Amino acid sequence: MLAAATRTSASVASTSASASKSLAPLISRPRRYLATAASGPCSSYLSVTHPDSSASPDSEVGKTLARFDASTLATYARPTVLLTRGKGLDLWGKVDPAKNEGQGEWKYLDFSSGIAVNSLGHADSQIAQIAREQADRLVHSSNLYHNEWSGELADRMVKLTQEHGGLGMAKGAGAKDELKVFLANSGTEANEAALKFARKHAMISANKAPGEKAGLVSFTNAFHGRTMGALAMTPNPKYQAPFAPLIGDVHSGQYNSFDGLNDLVNEKTAGVIVEPVQGEGGIFPASLEWLQALRKRCNEVGALLIYDEIQCGLFRSGTLWCHSEFPVDAHPDLITMAKPLANGFPIGAVLMNKKVADAITVGDHGTTFGGGPLASRIAHHVLGRLSDPQLKESMTASSAHLFTRLETLRDHFPDLVVHTPEKPSPRGKGLLVGLSMREPSHAGKVVKLARERGLIVLSAGSDAVRIVPSLIVTKEQVDQAVDILESCMLVLQREA
Ligand SMILES: Cc1ncc(COP(=O)(O)O)c(C=O)c1O
Repeated sequence: MLAAATRTSASVASTSASASKSLAPLISRPRRYLATAASGPCSSYLSVTHPDSSASPDSEVGKTLARFDASTLATYARPTVLLTRGKGLDLWGKVDPAKNEGQGEWKYLDFSSGIAVNSLGHADSQIAQIAREQADRLVHSSNLYHNEWSGELADRMVKLTQEHGGLGMAKGAGAKDELKVFLANSGTEANEAALKFARKHAMISANKAPGEKAGLVSFTNAFHGRTMGALAMTPNPKYQAPFAPLIGDVHSGQYNSFDGLNDLVNEKTAGVIVEPVQGEGGIFPASLEWLQALRKRCNEVGALLIYDEIQCGLFRSGTLWCHSEFPVDAHPDLITMAKPLANGFPIGAVLMNKKVADAITVGDHGTTFGGGPLASRIAHHVLGRLSDPQLKESMTASSAHLFTRLETLRDHFPDLVVHTPEKPSPRGKGLLVGLSMREPSHAGKVVKLARERGLIVLSAGSDAVRIVPSLIVTKEQVDQAVDILESCMLVLQREA
């Protein structure tokens, strides 16, 4: 397995050992973290403080949500809370005052960062200022003309990759390969572009007719997006079945398995797409040896290797790219990114090496919105902030603390949390962390129990609780979040 985030043996901060294993005390006002491994899990959040049913139908919020639901396609199941504002990791929701002692809103601690997006937190004031300035200057002008910011963004992304490592350049080696960037609007669009580039490259480099070397390979448990091409690479019947037929010549292999790799990736393969750490699939890191085997096989058959770093890239796993510090024989030809690149403003991008770029000519691909000056300027700023060494230092410390606290939680609840060689808990890298539940339905249950106690986390895969806070998260916030999770586990235990 790839090295997980640095785990220190430093004990969690503790001032008292008074937290009891007893489920009896229902303390409605949460207190700061006081539990230790010795003293037992935190029981301060047993009672519901933020019920999902936070609005009766005749309240103002209830009526508003009913009006919204009447005209909005129901593709999501959502609690009856209307989120209105955020700051850092805090999120406020408008609720029915009758459900909250007369208060019209309540506050959540967001450990989902809008599904691994808001790496710099909510409502960042510098980003707000930049967005305001640029919106006053130029929002859109089309890709038929240059603008002041898309080139700056591409330039910064390439230079940062040369400095931090990635796409065949080892960190600190001083190599400066010519990389190129294509800007899009979302993760799935970035993947569509990468898949198209792989097919075009195969045709040009192998001198084949269209379709002769067009095979695309992805792996079990992957998530690459919802558009037809990216969806075809997401071999999960839940997402694919209603929309068949998807694009053709797509093949699926077993993630982290060497069996049959040479047949799977063959002379007809144009591209192989893989997440170095699977996110939606349940937080599973690829093994370094397997990525090296993929790289080797792609070289043998002239296929491109695409890393989908939409969830694990851009410092979420601790380094610029998830693969930045891997040996270069495990580096890809292209990477796709999106989520945190503009901290919540829609954007996606493909970063590629010269051999890919050389196969693409004017007119091969395009987009109306991608690379617009507003999104590009925000992303340029975000990239600068994310690569600040101080942020990396504090994020590394918070990650280590999160792992330490979750290991303690796991040890408190061996009856609830899975911990096997195939599914270690906690697992992941940096601040992309998962915890598998023995009873798969408990993952969604923990998400709900936590939300009803003021903490937002996510589920992933078949049985995992996914924890992906902003990279600015503090150790104190980690303590509060894990305290709440410990109380949720106690509630689950009681129900069992
Ligand atoms: C690894 C990965 N790839 C692709 C996507 C799709 O990105 P988007 O929702 O921006 O289209 C996601 C979204 O969760 C993702 O996690």
